[in-house]
Amino acid sequence: MVGCGYWGSKHVRALRSLDAVGTVCMIDPSQERVDSLRRSFPGLESYAHLGQALDAIDAVVIATPPSTHKPLALEAIAAGKHVMVEKPLATSAADAREMIDAAKAQGVVLMVGHTFEYHSAVWSLREMVRSGALGDLYYLDTARLNLGLYQHDVNVLLDLAPHDISILNYVLGAQPVSVECWASRHAHRRLEDIAYLRLYYEDPKVVANVHVSWLDPCKVRRVTMVGSQKMVVFDDLAAEERIRVHNKGVAQPETEGDLTQAPMSYRYGDVVSPYLVFNEPLSIEDEHFTDCILTGMRPLTDGENGLAVVEVLEAAQRSVQQRRAVDLSEVRGGLDVPELAIPRQANRSASREVL
Ligand SMILES: NC(=O)c1ccc[n+]([C@@H]2O[C@H](COP(=O)([O-])OP(=O)(O)OC[C@H]3O[C@@H](n4cnc5c(N)ncnc54)[C@H](O)[C@@H]3O)[C@@H](O)[C@H]2O)c1
Repeated sequence: MVGCGYWGSKHVRALRSLDAVGTVCMIDPSQERVDSLRRSFPGLESYAHLGQALDAIDAVVIATPPSTHKPLALEAIAAGKHVMVEKPLATSAADAREMIDAAKAQGVVLMVGHTFEYHSAVWSLREMVRSGALGDLYYLDTARLNLGLYQHDVNVLLDLAPHDISILNYVLGAQPVSVECWASRHAHRRLEDIAYLRLYYEDPKVVANVHVSWLDPCKVRRVTMVGSQKMVVFDDLAAEERIRVHNKGVAQPETEGDLTQAPMSYRYGDVVSPYLVFNEPLSIEDEHFTDCILTGMRPLTDGENGLAVVEVLEAAQRSVQQRRAVDLSEVRGGLDVPELAIPRQANRSASREVL
């Protein structure tokens, strides 16, 4: 485990519970972090630097600050180790491509920690889009807000938006064709702490709005999808009923233009919360990583999947700087996209019944 801070400590716990993992060792230059984690997991070996551990390990999970992802991943790949890198895969599309090429050349697994793609609620959202259960998809909206943990090396866009972009790409089965983004700095002198993105998808043709903030009084983790027949809200903070499908809608009546009639007609129906088999997404993700190493299958969230998100982030950063919509073709490079693997638990059905 390279990087044993907030998120790395959760990986240590998840990895230790996997049969495929013989032992976990901690790699972190912060003795304080290592000591604190060793109190929960006594007996784990530790190293200050990745280079010192290479002879003792088969694979690495990297959960360090994003600016260190590329050099650490390349060091591990060059030594023939399988690598899972936390989101964002890299801080630029060029770096992400270099990592993908290096992993291909070495024949090792490269995976990105897009945890929400291992979340049964997100699998359920994808099923709803695929089955057309919501009717015509009008728009999607996501909000990831809090008085958040400011990062050292990336702004709120690179820190939080990878989650929403990966959810949207996965649920829609596509990458946006263009991006508009507005972001601003308030409490931090250098790093933007609030951002609004608009992602334009072509197939299906739909717009998604993404709001991320480290500077909001209320914690929100929400994905909303609005269709002509139904509307669905995924609230990741809800203790139960994380997904609620609202059977309601609004339409223009035949009497349009008749000022004596109501301008719109409203339809109200039941709110249904589909049953979700809930297993911790991080554990499913880590199990999938080891499955891919052992079987040679291509991960659901492989390097290309990570790159697709980084390209959107790069287009969004460019949009902020140049105050214009940025076409994804401006930042995209050509890559072959072979068949995707499905994580073991996704086969066991995300939701028993969607609607
Ligand atoms: N998938 C998710 O849901 C999720 C959630 C939180 C964070 N993350 C990601 O995890 C990564 C870490 O975030 P965090 O919140 O745990 O940060 P953190 O600051 O709590 O931990 C980072 C750790 O990396 C260590 N580190 C720094 N440079 C290192 C190096 N060269 N080698 C080894 N260790 C090094 C630091 O000492 C620290 O212990 C980020 O990429 C973040 O985006 C993902």
